[in-house]
Amino acid sequence: MNKVTVKINGEEDYIVNIGSDLLKDAGSIISEVHAPCRVAYITDFTVGAHYTATVVDSLKDAGFEVFIFAFPAGESSKNMETYEKILEFLADNEITRSDLIVELGGGVVGDLAGFAAATYMRGIDYVQIPTSLLAMVDSSVGGKTSIDLESGKNLCGAFHQPISVICSVDTLETLEKKYFDDGVAEIIKYGMLGNEKILKILHSCVENHDNLYFALKPFLSEIVEESISTKLNFVKSDVYDNGKRQFLNLGHTIGHAIEHASRYAIPHGHAVAVGMCSIARAGEKMNITEEGTANNVTALIRACGLPTSTIISPVDLYNSALSDKKRRGGEISLVIPVKFGECEIKKFKIDELKNILTLGVK
Ligand code: GLY
Repeated sequence: MNKVTVKINGEEDYIVNIGSDLLKDAGSIISEVHAPCRVAYITDFTVGAHYTATVVDSLKDAGFEVFIFAFPAGESSKNMETYEKILEFLADNEITRSDLIVELGGGVVGDLAGFAAATYMRGIDYVQIPTSLLAMVDSSVGGKTSIDLESGKNLCGAFHQPISVICSVDTLETLEKKYFDDGVAEIIKYGMLGNEKILKILHSCVENHDNLYFALKPFLSEIVEESISTKLNFVKSDVYDNGKRQFLNLGHTIGHAIEHASRYAIPHGHAVAVGMCSIARAGEKMNITEEGTANNVTALIRACGLPTSTIISPVDLYNSALSDKKRRGGEISLVIPVKFGECEIKKFKIDELKNILTLGVK
């Protein structure tokens, strides 16, 4: 098992445990950081059907008393209604501030359970057990928790770090292909932000693969560790997302607009993949991005089986982007690649975004 220590502002905060077949040890891993207590175990019906018995048995063996809450899988559950049900469940089961939430699932479960942990009784401890590639390499680490509002994605949330993260890469075996590819988009993002090891692995795997999951399988623990380490370089000195952390938004402004405009029919990573291609195309036309970068990014994204453009019009994307939480008054910050491996953050007037979206189309 590999361990990445998350240090926030130089202080040791929590450990991300990465390896295979870790779910049966979840109870003992968690008991290293929390005394036996009542545990609200939160999952969705799909992933829960595969792994709940293993995790719950392991928690019970380690002396925890477990209460299970499950809800329908998917972004459409990441709303006020499910959030409220979770809070009532916590209260009904007499979860107190010395107790614990343990969540198992992808980004939706992690964001929801994390937000419940951040707000229930003004904050209780929680553990993330991500089971999607996207949640392993991104959302389970760094403490962003949220739910969506009608007006946009992740508009209601809080920063709240977990006390432990357990990434058991064997759980990716049961992940639907489109959700695996979602995580690959975030991994490509870390390559574009400068992680050459990730790019090398990806390039070697996409060259001759029929199935990207099987090609990447021997490298999964390494890729998850590299991704988290890269993410932490941007998060450790800017937890509250006012500076360096914003680099992690590469592809996300257009990506979130695509998700919102498609009413979440286009999944997060697919939308971010299009967002990265679009901003590289627009960046070249604005003479910010080195010529050829857009072609290189697009080629890698296409080779990974992800989309590189959208049929949603720039006007519809613009209207969706107006409610983006990265907007500050009349301005919005965009992360633009300078070249492969290097990006910069530039501020634009919100109405300039319409033109940038048009430049990014093709
Ligand atoms: N997903 C981007 C961040 O955690 O800041």
